[in-house]
Amino acid sequence: MKVNGKHYRSIWFDAGANKVKIIDQRLLPYDFKIISAESLEDFEIAIKDMAVRGAPLIGATAAFGLARQMLRDPSDNCLDKSYERLIRTRPTAINLKWALDRCKKILLNTSLNKRGSRAMKLAHEISNEDVEINRNIGLNGLNIIKAIANQKSENEPVRLLTHCNAGWLATVDWGTATSPMYQAHNLKIPIHVWVDETRPRNQGALTAWELQCQGISHKYITDNAGGHLMQHGLVDLVIVGTDRTTAAGDVCNKIGTYLKALAAHDNGIPFYVALPSPTIDWTIKDGIKEIPIEERNEMEVSQIQGKDASGSIERIKVTPEGTEGANPAFDVTPARLVTGLITEKGVCQASVEGLTNLFPNLAKDVKND
Ligand code: MRU
Repeated sequence: MKVNGKHYRSIWFDAGANKVKIIDQRLLPYDFKIISAESLEDFEIAIKDMAVRGAPLIGATAAFGLARQMLRDPSDNCLDKSYERLIRTRPTAINLKWALDRCKKILLNTSLNKRGSRAMKLAHEISNEDVEINRNIGLNGLNIIKAIANQKSENEPVRLLTHCNAGWLATVDWGTATSPMYQAHNLKIPIHVWVDETRPRNQGALTAWELQCQGISHKYITDNAGGHLMQHGLVDLVIVGTDRTTAAGDVCNKIGTYLKALAAHDNGIPFYVALPSPTIDWTIKDGIKEIPIEERNEMEVSQIQGKDASGSIERIKVTPEGTEGANPAFDVTPARLVTGLITEKGVCQASVEGLTNLFPNLAKDVKND
């Protein structure tokens, strides 16, 4: 998507510099800075410290990290060790494992002298596929927005609510939850987006920044405001992203998503999840029991980051001395609260049948009860 009129992806290979470039999301929405990643450690830190974040982008970053390492040392030993180091960076988003498994399987069947170039080709493939998947999620989600717009008077906006950042910054481009919004905006369908703050890390500010860059009407709200807005008829549609969706349609996403789903359910508001197929974990069905939830540093809760009047980015403590925060980073929304899954192949019910019908070739890993 565009930043100051120039098109960017969130990760790319700069052939001139012979380096992978990423947008440092730790500094957004305040500063737009591009950094390079080269060593395996650079990629590990970028994922762990959340310079890059969002399930699809984590997968693409790991693929590039593995590829750069394969160019230095294509041995089986290095492949195994690099895989192990990268997969340990974050536990919840399944795209990380999906991308690394895909690369490892192909590289093990590639001769040593070709591994580096093959690994780079794979990283490019994974990135380009992500863009295409998300573009199609946008087109499929657009139909849902159009149907709501058709029931409104001209110029009355469709009011969407989203949680966290499932935008282009969380993917290689387009975003998942935001892609239908961008498609609608491009067609001049009026929309307004309620952007959840998403404490503790305030990824909602990334969404607000993205929407502002594209000129989409939006307001930033506290995480607690969504239910109230829904009760007062101010939300037509909720679209969120996902870090891992089970074969039965349970959705694990940024902490607080479940509460939005409950409020949407109570108020009869459609709650959709934008789901790229690499985010489906076909090996599990019960998200609450089976998805590992990342526990992050308590300082993300007991402190808050922002830019002060002098322009420097500061962290301040918001809890009393001696009170510690607890920081589960994701929660699971059971399939029964999900109106539908917006995938690159179409919209389906959040169920084994719904997903299997859309992805018969991928569903072979589904375990029977
Ligand atoms: O902790 P983060 O910022 O990596 O969490 C991101 C999310 O939860 C997104 O909603 C999810 O990855 C979907 S991204 C298209």
